[in-house]
Amino acid sequence: MIVTTKELFKHAYGNYAVGAYNINNLEQTVGLFRGNLGKAASNADNVDTSKAAPFIIQISRGARDYTDKRFLEAMIRTAEEVFPEVIFAVHLDHGTEEVCYDCIESGFYSSVMIDASHHEFEKNIEITRRVVERAHAKGIVVEAELGQLGGVEEDVVGSVCLTQPDQAAEFIEKSGCDSLAVAIGTSHGAYKFSGSQGLRVDVLEKIQKAVPKNFPLVMHGSSSVPKEWVDRINAAGGKLANASGVDENQYLPAAKLGVCKINIDTDGRLVWCAIHRESFRDDPANFDLRPPGKKFMAAYAQYIAHKNGKLGSAGQLESVRKSLGK
Ligand code: G3H
Ligand code: 13P
Ligand code: ZN
Repeated sequence: MIVTTKELFKHAYGNYAVGAYNINNLEQTVGLFRGNLGKAASNADNVDTSKAAPFIIQISRGARDYTDKRFLEAMIRTAEEVFPEVIFAVHLDHGTEEVCYDCIESGFYSSVMIDASHHEFEKNIEITRRVVERAHAKGIVVEAELGQLGGVEEDVVGSVCLTQPDQAAEFIEKSGCDSLAVAIGTSHGAYKFSGSQGLRVDVLEKIQKAVPKNFPLVMHGSSSVPKEWVDRINAAGGKLANASGVDENQYLPAAKLGVCKINIDTDGRLVWCAIHRESFRDDPANFDLRPPGKKFMAAYAQYIAHKNGKLGSAGQLESVRKSLGK
């Protein structure tokens, strides 16, 4: 069942965060649906209610352009039929105004992100407001972004790029957005922190105090870049030196401070990379795409179930269903 992120956030607020996972292809989609139902093994029939979680499936502009955006919709609609127990939102990740309108008109997406965070404050509000009006008219909700995520390599993790709490309150009021992505020290990709850097919980606390009560916040760039997967990639010929991510044990404390959506893409790519590298290293005579594909789907499902445990969303599926009256 496809729902809006707003419905998911209402249930999650202050207790846990909903995982927002990017997909590009069939194997990721199948692994994701299985993992969110706790069906880690490919032959598992029953939903593991202690692990089953609501989730958000994210589609980036890059994913839409990878083949044809219609394949993504067809895959997700099929997954919904194959796994009828699921409750999830379909969300456009980092949209431009034009792509937001395309998704709003499509009748498929339940949520869009307008990312106008690179514009100055007033312009960001103006663009977001336009998207909100078009989206709300169709019952679709809007995530906006204020502040800019940095990258250690770009040397931009600093106060100038972090979300300013007082601006966040004004932005929400003037733009009418339904949730807000905030910059609190994270960055996209596999190289987030060096030295003593980490999540700016102090800034998050101030933002939560400044924004309206129970207003959902979003954390981008939240992959944990697990050492285990980086080591496996490197041991199988990869070259990912000094990769690092967000401490998974910070997800729940962030959720308690109003973060309802935690974006994870890079970790899925790491699992994909490790499984495929190991597969070709260990079976050099193989040229069939299915053996690594099967291993990946199982490993990804297991990883998603683990991640949901850290987000606190594991085991919440039936409670969400009740709250929706379905
Ligand atoms: O925020 C970026 C996401 O990880 C999506 O990445 O644009 O390469 O699909 P992508
Ligand atoms: P990661 O690169 O940390 O997975 O972040 C993904 C993201 O924020 C997608 O919008
Ligand atoms: Zn992002």
